[in-house]
Amino acid sequence: MNAAAPQPKENMGAPAPRYDARLKVTGEARYSADVPMTNPAFAFLVTSSIAKGKLVSLDLAEARTVPGVIDILTQDDASVLHGGKFGQDAATSIDQLGPEIAHDGQIIALVLADSYEAAREAAYKVHANYAPAPASATFGSDGLKVEDATKVSARHRELPHKGDAEAALAAADVVIDAEYGTPTQHHNPLELFSTTCVWEGDKLTIYEPSQFVYGLKNGVAQRLGIDADNIRVVSHFVGGAFGSRGSMTPRTALIALAARKLNRPVKLVPTRDQGFTIATYRAETHHRVRLGARRDGKMVGYSHEGWEVSSRPDAYVVAGVKESAHLYGFGDVATKVNIVRADRNTPGFMRSPPVVPYIFALESAVDELAIKLAMDPVELRRVNDTMVDGVTGKRWSSRSLMKCYDQAAEAFGWKQRDSRPGSMRDGDWLIGWGCATAVYPTHVGAATARVRLRSDGTVRVQTAAHEIGNGVYTVLAQLAAERLGVPLASVTVEVGDTNVPPAPVAGGSNTTASTCSVVLKACDAIRDKLFRVASTANEGPLAGHFITEIDLRDGRLVTLHDAKSEPMADVFKRAGVSAIEEYAEFVPPGVKPEAVADLYKGRSTQTGGPEGEYIMYALGAEFVEVRVHALTREIRVPRIVGAFAGGRLMNTRTARSQFVGGMVWGISSALHEATEIDRERARYINDNFADYLVPVNADIQQLEVILVPEHDDIVNPAGVKGIGELANVGTAAAVANAVYHATGIRVRELPIRLEKLLA
Ligand code: MOS
Repeated sequence: MNAAAPQPKENMGAPAPRYDARLKVTGEARYSADVPMTNPAFAFLVTSSIAKGKLVSLDLAEARTVPGVIDILTQDDASVLHGGKFGQDAATSIDQLGPEIAHDGQIIALVLADSYEAAREAAYKVHANYAPAPASATFGSDGLKVEDATKVSARHRELPHKGDAEAALAAADVVIDAEYGTPTQHHNPLELFSTTCVWEGDKLTIYEPSQFVYGLKNGVAQRLGIDADNIRVVSHFVGGAFGSRGSMTPRTALIALAARKLNRPVKLVPTRDQGFTIATYRAETHHRVRLGARRDGKMVGYSHEGWEVSSRPDAYVVAGVKESAHLYGFGDVATKVNIVRADRNTPGFMRSPPVVPYIFALESAVDELAIKLAMDPVELRRVNDTMVDGVTGKRWSSRSLMKCYDQAAEAFGWKQRDSRPGSMRDGDWLIGWGCATAVYPTHVGAATARVRLRSDGTVRVQTAAHEIGNGVYTVLAQLAAERLGVPLASVTVEVGDTNVPPAPVAGGSNTTASTCSVVLKACDAIRDKLFRVASTANEGPLAGHFITEIDLRDGRLVTLHDAKSEPMADVFKRAGVSAIEEYAEFVPPGVKPEAVADLYKGRSTQTGGPEGEYIMYALGAEFVEVRVHALTREIRVPRIVGAFAGGRLMNTRTARSQFVGGMVWGISSALHEATEIDRERARYINDNFADYLVPVNADIQQLEVILVPEHDDIVNPAGVKGIGELANVGTAAAVANAVYHATGIRVRELPIRLEKLLA
């Protein structure tokens, strides 16, 4: 092989444009609610206006008079549905339409009409009579119930712990002891939480944006009490997900039920504000972090206690100490996590769910420690960098944290920083520079795929992965094109459909690692078959060659050493077949073999982070400049530099986009986003795009992404570390650290808004 040969632009790693980019900007991409239907009925949800109590009665008379109304489903109709199983398929167990009301915005009825407008008008004419009870909204409310997460959450029975952290903290030269908080946030994907259901006989097709089509299929089957083989879920494009579409929500079985009752397709497109309560959100958290160190900066003790707001019945908890406890060589470690039960809808996964809140707390505390030690925050991290995890004693598979720091610091100009708070000023603007670590566990899950190579050189890849912005159409096509020696345009990728073999839930940033590993396996099986035909033939240019000496390039089988070749089509002819198809199953080390059968049943198993033989994480370093106006306290982020190491990058363009999007999200978390709740009524206040703040173009100025090369063949066969949830971790802490540097004010509760700087 000629190492100097230029890399084709389409190969693995090359910045091929996203397959779906053009489709999306031209409106050609067909989202779930866009799928054409013959004679659909339209559904509109009626939701509770109290957060707790009983639904005494529903007066439907006025609603029924609206022209076009077909039917109104209430709790009696829905009582035939089985309850969803929280912790398995379902995002919540609060899925009946009453009489118990467990949170604001709970679905209490479903209006069906010939038009969307009629359904919506009638829904507003449904009159509900309630017997309300006092509701607990959030931290500080009456009636909360606090429980130890290890006692109530099966996923979090064990939390990291090492030695005697109390004693280590007591003996430390310097100790930080501080409390931090992060607010409720909602995903607000642009595509609303739509569902369309169509029955043909006893076969049900569900069109819904999903991060796990097999999970939804099996979950809805369980709720309807029917065989999962009778359900197909289709989700070809997803207009934003971020975790909000990973588990089944109550609406889907309800729409299936309505479509069966009407014997007609039923389409639901809920409103933006309904999305705040019929799906999940990022839970509000509180933290107490203690960090102890010697004078030279070496950490000796880390104690982290977290509190996470959850719903009454469901123990949703992220317990991010499971990730934070491995980030540095901390010495002794103690962790604890509490579930705080309130009268809320059940929270759920939202981009980097465990690390976003916990790393904000930890990385703020690390900065506070650096200040107390009068040490550069980068150097403090260097002193505590480690290839061997202090808690488990396991080695890291690869760890490029300080490379990320060094490259980002250099690009940022960190050396010019005057560490004294308020010392860097440009007219009326106080300048602050801060940095923090981004970290995300490397996950990989069991996956299956079918790949077909035809004699004309076209390829079809099938795996029920999910295009949620991860670029899966594109990277799978690149991988297959390279392994099978065909142009990118010859590859068709089919994802997001339970008619093709299952892939894992698109959560935990595992998609690229898992699906590339299994597609690689299927492609290699095809190569093997083709090479055997060519090499065992009695005649032909490749007869008698070892198959290990053959490669596929540009539609030809080529030998690596003596430059012989034969067109792929001739080898197919020789074999007497027009296509070779291979089905492959991939089970990562440490995952049980039944994981594949489980996948078909809608259970996705993945491993990684601290769980395997090695500690596996993607890492990054982010440097932020903030400007705080000396008089108005307006806060701007004129520039941010992030350097990231995520193993092998399958496509540098999609990777860069993920990092850019992540840092924008991080700025959003730092300065803008928070869902406000009415403390009296436990109802969300700013459930719309006018009041729920996200950054606009003017809020985002210079963003620089540095891709730090990293080779890691331990993590998975593809060498890929997930990066989709890396870059929005650490940004908020970097901003908070920069705000401190600018003003001398330490903001420990996100978001950082100007009123918090009016000291
Ligand atoms: Mo991501 S929140 O793990 O879908």
